[in-house]
Amino acid sequence: MRKKIIAGNWKMNLNLAEAEDLVKGVASGLQTRNISENLKVIIAPSHPYLFTVNTFIPGSQSHFFHLSAQDCSINKSGAFTGDVAASMLKNVGCDFTLVGHSERRKYQKESNEELVEKVKQAFDNNLKVIFCCGETIEERKAEKHFEVIENQLETVFSELEGNLENFVIAYEPVWAIGTGETATPQQAQEVHKFIRGLLSNKFGNKVAEEMSILYGGSCKPTNASDLFAQADIDGGLIGGASLKAESFLGIIDAMLNEIA
Ligand code: PGA
Repeated sequence: MRKKIIAGNWKMNLNLAEAEDLVKGVASGLQTRNISENLKVIIAPSHPYLFTVNTFIPGSQSHFFHLSAQDCSINKSGAFTGDVAASMLKNVGCDFTLVGHSERRKYQKESNEELVEKVKQAFDNNLKVIFCCGETIEERKAEKHFEVIENQLETVFSELEGNLENFVIAYEPVWAIGTGETATPQQAQEVHKFIRGLLSNKFGNKVAEEMSILYGGSCKPTNASDLFAQADIDGGLIGGASLKAESFLGIIDAMLNEIA
């Protein structure tokens, strides 16, 4: 069975005290739940909070509760003011990093080629990668979404040999992020199935069947169950709804019900 993953992307939100309260709230909620061996919970606070937040992940939960960064540098180290190296993220307790979130592709103009360098840095430093892809509303309206997603994944696929088990894909239609508009379960499933097909063509069926593909974009406790019930949706990358322990735990519950 593929790993199920619920990941919270806190983006550029919260002050330090709020970040501490949030991780404590999630940890204590997890304490009272029967977490399936097949589930991973991940939180991605902004860089300055990583070290502190990590200290609140209980040792007893560290086999399923992981810390992620939201981004890493394309460079190893050196004169890159403001950048944060993958080795530094590993140093402060990260097991994962997001790469290629649409907000970074848009505002930081990150190209597919740069993203490949980030993925390489992450792997070189023993970080697993949650790699984001997804189309804009214009691309969807022009029915170019499959083509766009294939392009976004093609370049990075060539770097995955030897690290396939360290790679997770998140399909995040840009028009659904932070908009309250979710892809329908059918729309999401259609793209997830397409991505699994790309994986199968490139790496074979076994790899395609084993890789987790998450959905992201206005996922919340009220729509999570229908999304997670789809055959190729293995979890969620959650933005807004991960900023409150209660709603994040609600989404985790939807997945626990699905696994049960
Ligand atoms: P959202 O964000 O859940 O607030 O739509 C998801 C994401 O950008 O990862």
